[in-house]
Amino acid sequence: MSSESAESPERPEHTARHPLPSPPPVHGPRLVLIGPMGAGKTTVGREVARRLGVPFADLDALIVDRDGRSIPEIFAADGEEAFRRLEARVLAHALATHAGVLALGGGAVGDPASRALVASHPTVLLEIDESAALRRVHAGRGRPMLAGEDPLERWRTLTAERLPLYREAARWSIEASRGDVPAVARRVIAAVRETERDHEPGTTIDQVGAAAPGTKEDA
Ligand code: S3P
Repeated sequence: MSSESAESPERPEHTARHPLPSPPPVHGPRLVLIGPMGAGKTTVGREVARRLGVPFADLDALIVDRDGRSIPEIFAADGEEAFRRLEARVLAHALATHAGVLALGGGAVGDPASRALVASHPTVLLEIDESAALRRVHAGRGRPMLAGEDPLERWRTLTAERLPLYREAARWSIEASRGDVPAVARRVIAAVRETERDHEPGTTIDQVGAAAPGTKEDA
């Protein structure tokens, strides 16, 4: 992830998509991170989890654990459709059982049923612009959906198609093109907490994820 700190002047740091969030379910993740390939969902998610003092899980890693093959191996042997079926099953299980921060792969909300499930949890969209994507996914390495001649063009097309779906599933959106991982993680936590604080004073911070005693939150 970039270590630049300048923020884009056109975009707000974070925006509330649905200002009156419904309460999250009793079980399941305190925070779900979605967004395009290269947005930093895994690195930011891990940092958010550390700051909140909760466990972190990455959907792709859960899929690999469950299946025993890498993501490119699953795509190569079984094809995208089979991968999506597996992804939807592992996602539904993780949403029901993982009580921490959960980062999803870039295509996980393509399935309407998965998208509706994700939307019922506190979900943050990490958005990046093309120049950040160019820095982060230029080689398409390890990402079968970007395989081919022009990975950036594939990224651009997929991201344009998926943006409305991301926005449907997410309650908050964070511009994550610039800023290092701790800075983006702080903004994720601040966005969720500010919105919750504005609308549900005193009740919802714990629902999103209270810091464990001694957890460093604002460094
Ligand atoms: C995919 C994104 C990948 C991974 C798989 C498919 C996609 O995750 O799930 O290669 O369709 O966008 P990342 O978004 O973490 O790269």
